[in-house]
Amino acid sequence: MANTNLRNANRAKKDEFYTSYADIERECEKYREQFVDKIIYCNCDDPVESNFFKYFANNFDFFKLKKIIATHYHDSKPTYKLEINKKLDLNSDGKIDIVDVEKTPLIGNGDFRNAECIELLKEADIVVTNPPFSLFREYMEQLMDYDKKFLIIGNTNSLTYKEIFKLFKEDNIRTGYTNFNTGMYFVVPDSWGKYHKIDDSGNKLVRVASSCWLTNLEVSKHHDDVILYRSYVAEDYPKYDNYDAINIDKYTEIPQDYAGNMGVPITFLDKYNPDQFEIIDGIGRYSMLTGPTADTKGTYLTKIDGKPKYARVIIRNKRIKE
Ligand SMILES: C[S@@+](CC[C@H](N)C(=O)[O-])C[C@H]1O[C@@H](n2cnc3c(N)ncnc32)[C@H](O)[C@@H]1O
Repeated sequence: MANTNLRNANRAKKDEFYTSYADIERECEKYREQFVDKIIYCNCDDPVESNFFKYFANNFDFFKLKKIIATHYHDSKPTYKLEINKKLDLNSDGKIDIVDVEKTPLIGNGDFRNAECIELLKEADIVVTNPPFSLFREYMEQLMDYDKKFLIIGNTNSLTYKEIFKLFKEDNIRTGYTNFNTGMYFVVPDSWGKYHKIDDSGNKLVRVASSCWLTNLEVSKHHDDVILYRSYVAEDYPKYDNYDAINIDKYTEIPQDYAGNMGVPITFLDKYNPDQFEIIDGIGRYSMLTGPTADTKGTYLTKIDGKPKYARVIIRNKRIKE
């Protein structure tokens, strides 16, 4: 119980991490063509604090956006939304930017699940934000239910969730341009004791190595083949005790001539080209596609000679015929 409380407290704290402007810029500028004439919705944002809103407001004309909407969340009070619309050059200076912002009260507290926020979601083309980690599954489910394009920040642990892993298998989600395991810096509340550095504006920054961008927009790196140079030799690639696949500890060691199932680290998803490989399954304690079942409960599927490996993605090379 004490552990659960601690975990929940840590999750709640992480829900208040703010994404740094530099990390947003590094990723978002890569989607320039895909943002043209689109309505961007930041639905988990305090638009005053959020660098997402600032970034899109500053770059409204650069991206040729149609509109930006950001709703402010508060846990108990009614809040407001901010909008910038390409048709409303409020100060008539010939540019659309942060001074053309309109503020409108919301009926509720800006919870992304509220009816008024869902109406904004329906109006939007692309959702871009860093949603609260503690509500990640629910957040993703809503995006899927409304069939929305998205570019969001998640945690690499979430990729092994049954609901998210299935999206990777079906090629309905992919990692963004910022390399996996690069880690991102987040602005934390001033009261936060531990931090890695302080930025030029005096904000405390914490590095989270397991953060990654997730999207269903086009990401060109996922059309590039992983270069394979190793040849299959049975002794180098042992099979799992409880799953019919060979084990590979680094994606660079995938043999170029193996036609069967291969287990690769989760980091492979950052290099995955669906034209080159097919995702068959994900394994750890149990299959990531099914979750624990009566058959697999208590069976570690990544074991080799009784010792479990970290979670693995099971893939097959589409270009090699058995
Ligand atoms: C990880 S922070 C990121 C904040 C901001 N998007 C950014 O990246 O700088 C998650 C944000 O979601 C907000 N939030 C928490 N629960 C929410 C909910 N149910 N609906 C909308 N926003 C929520 C939190 O207040 C927090 O500002």
